Amino acid sequence: MKAQTTIGIVGGTGWLGRSIATALLDSGFLSPDALMLSSRSGVFSDPKGALSGVRVTADNQELVLQSDIVILSVRPEDLGAVRIDVQDKLLVSLVAGVSLADIGLFTQARCVIRAMPNAALEIRKSYTPWLANDQVDAQSKKYIQQLFETCGSADEVFSERDLSYLTALTGTGPSYPALLAQALYNDAIKHGLSPAMAQRAVMGVVVQASQLMSEERGFNELLEVLREYRGVSAAGINGMLEGGLEASVKAGMARAFEVAQSNLFDIRAVEVDKGQLPLGRVD
Ligand SMILES: NC(=O)c1ccc[n+]([C@@H]2O[C@H](COP(=O)([O-])OP(=O)(O)OC[C@H]3O[C@@H](n4cnc5c(N)ncnc54)[C@H](OP(=O)(O)O)[C@@H]3O)[C@@H](O)[C@H]2O)c1
Repeated sequence: MKAQTTIGIVGGTGWLGRSIATALLDSGFLSPDALMLSSRSGVFSDPKGALSGVRVTADNQELVLQSDIVILSVRPEDLGAVRIDVQDKLLVSLVAGVSLADIGLFTQARCVIRAMPNAALEIRKSYTPWLANDQVDAQSKKYIQQLFETCGSADEVFSERDLSYLTALTGTGPSYPALLAQALYNDAIKHGLSPAMAQRAVMGVVVQASQLMSEERGFNELLEVLREYRGVSAAGINGMLEGGLEASVKAGMARAFEVAQSNLFDIRAVEVDKGQLPLGRVD
């Protein structure tokens, strides 16, 4: 990558695109003049001035021309209307449920990366797995790893299957901790606590106390210590396991994995004038 790499985010005014743009600027990874966003209207409101100096356009192809790297961040159902010809630029697709091969074919991009951030990107704590096709060189991969590290942590994965599995595991963001919180809350209500007290108690456990897990002291070590006390924590942990927690998690993950592997956008179903870009190559 050259020193002044420019990045364009198609759909950059949306929730995810805007969060990435903000992370790139806040971390100093990119200066505002090296960033461009697009949306259908070409306008966006930025009341806090987080993205001041960033250009916005309604012309997606103009964004492609102005950028070294194009990040695609529109919803799967809106993808059909995004007509871009990416060719020799690096395309990074964040669109769920569209394979590396299909997104490459659809945008005419040779070098393609698929990435799956999660909702914690908003607080720059997303875990973002990403997958590159065999055309992406080592230097570009290093750059993309650094880019996603401005949004939290990231890992390269080496198969579409692993990316789909991680979509089910981490792309779901706060889903599973929220589910645990709800189950604890419902139990506390049944016990007779007031909703306000139950809410504070549950948040204290699921949000605050869970921060005691860290890279230095992971969940395995923590659970081992807690179980060794043979006290209240150990009784609660063992009761939940005996009640089928692992089986529930396995069933939920299997179902989410199945959905994550399904195709949310069929490029062959898009009606196109075959003589026009970008779909001239689609059979
Ligand atoms: N939300 C998540 O946690 C998450 C996690 C991982 C991946 N993703 C993926 O990220 C993508 C974006 O999700 P999101 O939550 O950010 O959606 P979003 O808030 O709806 O943002 C999508 C943006 O795309 C713009 N857009 C739509 N059609 C367009 C077009 N033809 N040309 C240019 N811009 C267009 C929209 O702006 P206008 O309406 O103004 O045009 C909007 O700003 C999705 O594919 C989703 O699967 C989301």
